[in-house]
Amino acid sequence: MTISHDLSAPLIVVVGATGTQGGSVINNLDASDKQYRMRGLTRDISKTSAKKLAERRVEMVSCDIRVGEEERVQKVFQGATYIFAVTNYWEHVDKAREIAEGKLMVDAAKTVGVELFIWSSEPSVTKASKGTVTKVSHFDSKAEVSEYARSAGIRVVDVHVGGYMNNFTTFSKPRPAGDGSYMIASTWNPTARMPLIDTFHDAGLFVRQAIESEEFNSGDGRVIGAYGEWVSIEDQMEILTEATGKRIRYLQLTDEQMAAGMKEEGMPQHVIDDMLGMFRFHDGIWEDTYLHSNRGTLARAPRTFKEYCELEHWDGVFT
Ligand SMILES: NC(=O)c1ccc[n+]([C@@H]2O[C@H](COP(=O)([O-])OP(=O)(O)OC[C@H]3O[C@@H](n4cnc5c(N)ncnc54)[C@H](OP(=O)(O)O)[C@@H]3O)[C@@H](O)[C@H]2O)c1
Repeated sequence: MTISHDLSAPLIVVVGATGTQGGSVINNLDASDKQYRMRGLTRDISKTSAKKLAERRVEMVSCDIRVGEEERVQKVFQGATYIFAVTNYWEHVDKAREIAEGKLMVDAAKTVGVELFIWSSEPSVTKASKGTVTKVSHFDSKAEVSEYARSAGIRVVDVHVGGYMNNFTTFSKPRPAGDGSYMIASTWNPTARMPLIDTFHDAGLFVRQAIESEEFNSGDGRVIGAYGEWVSIEDQMEILTEATGKRIRYLQLTDEQMAAGMKEEGMPQHVIDDMLGMFRFHDGIWEDTYLHSNRGTLARAPRTFKEYCELEHWDGVFT
């Protein structure tokens, strides 16, 4: 137990404390031998996940991070040594809103004089693709906030969070193929490799590195790549098959076939464009442009995809 109430301990303010990334930040700092005070933000302190964090000595405070709530955000950031900030694009799928809320947090962090602002970011796909893939809003928006933070003159580290391994239990879950096997369909080339992370277990490990490693906590605008390992699509299928005991195959679709499927599921056009662009980015551009950060100062090894698959609860996924 390292969550402290001692005023001499540094205070980390964790945005999204009740969520996957923020929850991981709390768990990974709690595992440190250093003492931290922790303040967790939620829009609803009465919810069970918030109450459980309060029982663990996290100071839970209510805050709705949105335009118009600038004073409240400053108030809950007050006294922070470190701030971990994340936005939840998928709750509203609005690029302008994600940028505005990210910038609002940067402004508040600057006002309260935080020592280090740790931003859950992604690379600009528009820049990485040299302007050939321009509609990946949920990456470009996060990258725009990163640039804004640097120009604001605050000490900042970007944590580029890889693809969530647990997407395989949610929106990328294997679908029945009709012959007893299961299928994952997308537009990636089967040999495309991507950085994957067991997010709830490991995202906070990289935030801990940002705080505890001198290389990163100088806050000179560095980027940490947060992933367990890079795994190709074909290897993902093999590992999933072995761990789950279900035969799982990959089906490569054209952009048109993929778009038709997403439309049928009711996705708005800008989200379809965003997803198709992200798949193109995954298909080589990501690996070609990726900045490999030093992993030597991580407090422990993050999980591999195989370890994740063996530990995941697959009941209910194969329906
Ligand atoms: N899926 C992937 O493969 C992947 C990969 C990399 C990055 N990402 C990014 O990860 C982000 C989501 O992070 P996550 O997975 O940690 O989300 P999550 O598990 O869904 O949790 C979202 C958290 O954000 C908080 N929150 C949302 N809106 C808020 C607001 N207006 N004010 C205050 N708190 C708010 C929620 O708190 P309360 O509900 O308690 O208020 C909750 O704690 C997205 O932006 C996505 O683009 C996803």
